[in-house]
Order: sequence, then structure tokens, then C-alpha cells
Amino acid sequence: MNILVTGGTGYIGSLTSLRLLEAGHRPVLLDNLCNSHPAVLDRIATLGGSRPQFVQGDVRDRALLERVLAEAQIDAVIHFAALKAVGESVAQPLAYYDNNVNGTLALLHAMQTVGVRNLVFSSSATVYGAAEQMPLYEDAPLSATNPYGQSKLMVEHMLADLAVADPRWSLTALRYFNPVGAHPSGLMGEHPQGVPNNLMPYIAQVAVGQRASLRVFGNTYPTPDGTGVRDFIHVMDLADGHLAALQHGVGRPGLHVFNLGSGQGHSVLEVLAAFGQACGKNLPFDIVPPRPGDVASSWADPRRAREMLGWHTTRSLADMCADTWRWQSTHPQGYSV
Ligand code: NAD
Ligand code: WQD
Repeated sequence: MNILVTGGTGYIGSLTSLRLLEAGHRPVLLDNLCNSHPAVLDRIATLGGSRPQFVQGDVRDRALLERVLAEAQIDAVIHFAALKAVGESVAQPLAYYDNNVNGTLALLHAMQTVGVRNLVFSSSATVYGAAEQMPLYEDAPLSATNPYGQSKLMVEHMLADLAVADPRWSLTALRYFNPVGAHPSGLMGEHPQGVPNNLMPYIAQVAVGQRASLRVFGNTYPTPDGTGVRDFIHVMDLADGHLAALQHGVGRPGLHVFNLGSGQGHSVLEVLAAFGQACGKNLPFDIVPPRPGDVASSWADPRRAREMLGWHTTRSLADMCADTWRWQSTHPQGYSV
């Protein structure tokens, strides 16, 4: 299939594009490069055997999208393009609603005009809000605690309404839990701009000596060791999940919602220890007060994806740490070096 991948040069989009190439599809990547580097295209070419078509542009540019969808004879779209920093979304809500909600609206309009009605959307476990009941099932109550989460929830509502209004659409929302890791070659991975917000990239920068020590946000949560527990998922398992979702969704009308997680939680201190094993060092940390808005625990019930997509995670926490370390230690400046 010809697949338009919005946000295709980003962390998850680039690795999914590589998997699409490897599976014999033709990905067309569209990205405005606001949070990614074009050098990733060379890495995809090296690992995937051919260089995917790349369009530098914005998902809010409906005319551009219509042109790309028609000219590349796109069969389905995987829509990753979005802003994703929770704290930034609180400070700049309009930028988040514009990119994430307006961007998706423009994309859906363009798809409608051209007659492409297969979409896989990057949603997030953040749509479960501050849920306390674990594990999280797809039909658990939904809510949002910040504008980023709200933008994902708004898009899910748009997709649900569209599926009801026009049964020709196949719309899949994938709720990712905590994606981490890198390509096992160490050639592709995540390189956040500035100080990392997320746990794994922060630990990786401590391990490589770019940051002094990890600040552990709270150790009095009702969890086995008192630190936060999350469902970490290897980004290559996540990429495989997109292929499975595409295979399931294309030509199957309706809204399809899946958790993509392992079903297993790991605490902050467990991740730190596993990373220490991977890099062969004891990594320094300080306990600091909890981060506002954090929940104690979050993990998926991944059964629906296993049963309906035939997909489940296969990579362990040790794999996630080893692959992140391989990437971080060889690319301390990400793709810019
Ligand atoms: P990323 O920032 O690495 O990738 C997103 C890409 O979209 C970037 O390359 C960026 O340049 C591009 N982009 C942003 N706005 C755009 C616009 N208006 N037009 C064109 N391109 C634009 O992030 P990621 O981690 O790869 O996340 C991909 C998707 O998965 C996002 O929708 C994100 O919300 C979602 N998600 C991520 C996580 C996570 O922890 N990484 C968890 C759950 C959901
Ligand atoms: C994990 C755990 C922290 C950093 C976020 C978004 C969510 C989704 C994934 C996009 C928590 C602790 C972290 C640090 C720490 N993104 N921590 N020190 O918050 O579960 O999810 O990313 O959709 O929407 O909210 O992930 O990696 O930030 O935190 O102790 O320096 O690590 O308190 O317990 P989170 P995270």
C-alpha cells in the first residue's frame, strides 16, 4: 500500500516508516520538521534499503495534503504529526489545539475530498486522565488533565462522530502507553530538544554524562517501591503495532480503538536499575517532590490488541534500555552529528 505518514521524521513515525518499508509498503513521509531532523531519512534508507519520499510541509495545509494524497495515490494515512509536551501544552494551549486538533481536521477534510478513508491515529493513554483503576481497558472512562490530553480526546471524539456519520471510513485510534527504546542497530532513536521531560531520555542523558543525576519525582506513591509505575513499550513493538492495526483496519469500516502497551508496569527505580545494567554504571539519583499531575500507576490491559490484531509486545525492559543506550552512547547529539 501507499501510506502517508504524517510526522514521519519524528521518533515513532520514522521507525514505523522503516517497518512499513521492510514490510513492502511505500511510505510517503510528511513533516514540518518542528521537532525532527531530516538526517533520519538517510538512516531509514540505510536500514530499509530505499529512501522514502519526503514532503516538508504542515498538516494544517489542506491544499498540500490534497495534492500529496492524490499524486501519491495514497491508500491509508498514519497520523503521528502533533505536539506532545504536556507542560508546554499548559503554557501554550492554543498552539496545541491548532497543531493537534486543527491539524487533524485539515487532514480529515483533505482525505474526504480525495476519497482516502483509512486512518490510523496516534492517541495516547493520557486520554484515561487520572484513572486509579488498573489495568486500563479501552472502555474505561475518558478524561484529560491538560491541553495535550484534551487535544487527543477531542480528536478521538471527532473520529467517533465521523465513523457514525459516514460508514465508508475506517478509523483506528491507538492509545500508546510509554514508548521508549531505539532501533536495535543504534542508528535511529529519540533525541528530545532541551531538557527531556520523559524518564527514559533523561536517564539516558545521565548515563552519557550530559546530566548530573536523575530527579525521581516522589517515592511515597502506593506502589511496591513508592515510585511511579508505568507501562513502558519498546518503540519497535509499537511500530509493529501500527502494521497490525493497518492490516486490520484498512477496508474495515468504523472506529477501532486499541491500547498499545505491554500490560506490565515498571517503577522509576526499576527502570533506573535496568538502565544501569545496560550501560554498566550505577546511575545517580535524587528523590524530589512528586511532579504535579502525575498518577501513581498506569498500565494497559492489552488483550483487545492481542485478540483482534494478533499483536503483543515481545521486547523486555532490558531490551528497551540496551537499545536506548546503544543509540544514546553513539549519538549523544541525536541526528545533528
Ligand atoms: P515527535 O515529536 O518525535 O514526532 C512528531 C512529528 O510531527 C515531529 O517530527 C514533528 O516535527 C511533526 N509535526 C508536529 N506538528 C506538525 C505539523 N503541524 N505539521 C507537520 N508535522 C508536524 O513525537 P513522537 O514521540 O514520535 O510522537 C508521535 C505521535 O505519538 C504524536 O501524535 C504523539 O502525541 C503520540 N504519542 C507519543 C507518545 C510518546 O511518549 N512519545 C505517547 C503517546 C502518544
Ligand atoms: C514516567 C515516570 C514520572 C521524569 C508522558 C505523558 C503521556 C505520554 C507519555 C504522550 C513518572 C517519572 C519522569 C523524570 C521521574 N505522552 N519521572 N523523573 O508522565 O507517564 O507520560 O509521556 O502522549 O501523555 O504524560 O511519562 O516518562 O514523563 O514519566 O521520576 O525526570 O517517571 O514522575 O512516574 P508519563 P514520563
